[in-house]
Amino acid sequence: MLLMEGKAGLVTGAGSGIGRATAIAVANHGATVGVSDYNEESGKETVALINEAGGKAEFFRCDVSEEEQVKALVDLTANTYGTLDFAFNNAGTAGEFAPIGEMDSAVFDRVMKINLYGVFYCMKYEVLAMEASGGGAIVNTSSINGLIGIPRNASYNASKFAVIGITKNVAIDYGAKGIRVNALAPGPTTTPMLTDALERHTPEFRESMYASLPMRDLLKPEDQANAAVWLCSDQARMITGTTLVVDGGRVP
Ligand SMILES: NC(=O)c1ccc[n+]([C@@H]2O[C@H](COP(=O)([O-])OP(=O)(O)OC[C@H]3O[C@@H](n4cnc5c(N)ncnc54)[C@H](O)[C@@H]3O)[C@@H](O)[C@H]2O)c1
Repeated sequence: MLLMEGKAGLVTGAGSGIGRATAIAVANHGATVGVSDYNEESGKETVALINEAGGKAEFFRCDVSEEEQVKALVDLTANTYGTLDFAFNNAGTAGEFAPIGEMDSAVFDRVMKINLYGVFYCMKYEVLAMEASGGGAIVNTSSINGLIGIPRNASYNASKFAVIGITKNVAIDYGAKGIRVNALAPGPTTTPMLTDALERHTPEFRESMYASLPMRDLLKPEDQANAAVWLCSDQARMITGTTLVVDGGRVP
């Protein structure tokens, strides 16, 4: 069953990991997808994967931490496809690992600029395009680190809690206009971000992380993609303002 037939929209951070898997999944479900990333090479690779499999995708470069670029991205996507039915605001960065007393304030700013302001800028323009299209569905990538504390990364922790807050706010303000807004909270998922982060932690931390997983297995990007597609689809027509936790039971 195709969940996204006839729809068109946007995925940010689609050059890798969860964003790439979701762009591929929405295309497999029949959608036309604007693949966006600030890394042009990896974004175009995602487009090639989709088009070679018979799907419909184009690459639109954008650094989500730059408001003007985000505005241009949303306008270009909506104008190209004549609609904006869904948006997966997923681009993110892990930042640096350090206790707050040793944290470089510039790193904190940068993580907030990508993970929180990026989502803010995207939604600010997406709701306008969706209103013009008669409604739509937005999914913002938070994290289980938007629900629980983590060691040595105040910037990431704070940004991901804030994504859940802003999701709830926009869901309330735009529900009557036919726009649904939800958050996805992935647990540890096998992407370059997780691999890089684990390399920067101690072996003890890595062992405790695996031991904390009830299903004793990491998530796959496709596990997150399946959830994101469903939230974007009409099957979730009455679901808004919620956070879907896809973590193999990690958060008790
Ligand atoms: N992998 C995990 O375990 C995990 C867990 C929880 C949440 N997340 C979240 O999932 C999302 C995707 O992460 P991933 O694991 O797929 O990582 P990833 O590193 O594989 O992919 C992130 C993508 O975002 C892009 N990106 C980064 N900064 C950008 C910017 N300023 N503008 C545009 N694109 C930018 C990167 O180029 C990359 O293609 C992130 O928001 C991340 O915080 C990941």
